[in-house]
Amino acid sequence: MKSEKILVLFVLLPIVTVETGVFDFFSGIFDNDKLRPFNSTDFEKDLRMSLYGQNIALNTILKAVTWLMKDPDPPKPLVLSLHGPTGVGKTYITKIIAQLKAWIYGNVSSFPRSIFIFDEMDKMNPHLIETIKPFLDYMLHVDRVSFNHAIFLFLSQAGANMINEVALDSWRKGKERDQMNTQRMETLLYQGIFNDKNSGFWHSSLIDEHLVDHFVPFLPLERKHLKQCVLAEMTSLNITHDYDVMDSVLKDMPFFPPEEEAFSLKGCKTLHNKLGLHMKL
Ligand SMILES: Nc1ncnc2c1ncn2[C@@H]1O[C@H](COP(=O)(O)OP(=O)(O)OP(=O)(O)O)[C@@H](O)[C@H]1O
Ligand SMILES: [Mg+2]
Repeated sequence: MKSEKILVLFVLLPIVTVETGVFDFFSGIFDNDKLRPFNSTDFEKDLRMSLYGQNIALNTILKAVTWLMKDPDPPKPLVLSLHGPTGVGKTYITKIIAQLKAWIYGNVSSFPRSIFIFDEMDKMNPHLIETIKPFLDYMLHVDRVSFNHAIFLFLSQAGANMINEVALDSWRKGKERDQMNTQRMETLLYQGIFNDKNSGFWHSSLIDEHLVDHFVPFLPLERKHLKQCVLAEMTSLNITHDYDVMDSVLKDMPFFPPEEEAFSLKGCKTLHNKLGLHMKL
């Protein structure tokens, strides 16, 4: 691997990422004083406290990341592809992950850690993803920097319809959302994305060559999760929880399918501004 490829990655990343890990990468190299060992219990606590209704995704991400952090010599970077409808926590979870600067060094290795986040992949030019493919592959060492310790996160709404259908089917059968067959969900996602002509980079050899470790489904959110989101907004705004306001905000949110109103059409998106409309000033 040539070092100009690294340069390409660094030129490319600021364009394609929202929360780029480039700066983490540099701070990992130059700012050793602030490093703490990764603590999976704290990480789990952070995730469980702030992410609602996404236990399937949460458990996969928690296990995958902890596994990587405990591995002194991973054969390749961890590559996760997060899928789901709008407003259900895909970008949000990456912010929680990126906050954990402690990851820069794991407790069993002294390699720099970096987290690269590619948001809205489905809207991206398919050629871009091919450029970073070498970094996701096995056994890459450049100038003593191993990308094998890095985490690459791809986010997209590709597969959202399939996820909604499976979630609705399960909801109609009265099943707990955590009890859904995750294996089946991942297989469906994998096949759906691979065969979907509109899913952009998914036609790339990334899938063919199995460089994505896990396809992680984010489910549509139910009324009870929206309530949690509204209360969390109130807390972050330092407002005493007002359940009447919470109910009127929820009445202002669209749900689907029309006859059952099982899931929020926009997830928790726009709740913050809806709250402004319904607060008693
Ligand atoms: N599962 C969740 N738990 C807690 N808060 C959530 C959850 N989902 C969404 N939110 C809240 O809603 C906001 C918007 O969600 P987010 O940006 O993660 O959506 P998204 O899944 O990335 O959607 P899009 O596909 O449109 O980008 C978040 O900043 C967060 O405040
Ligand atoms: Mg997003």
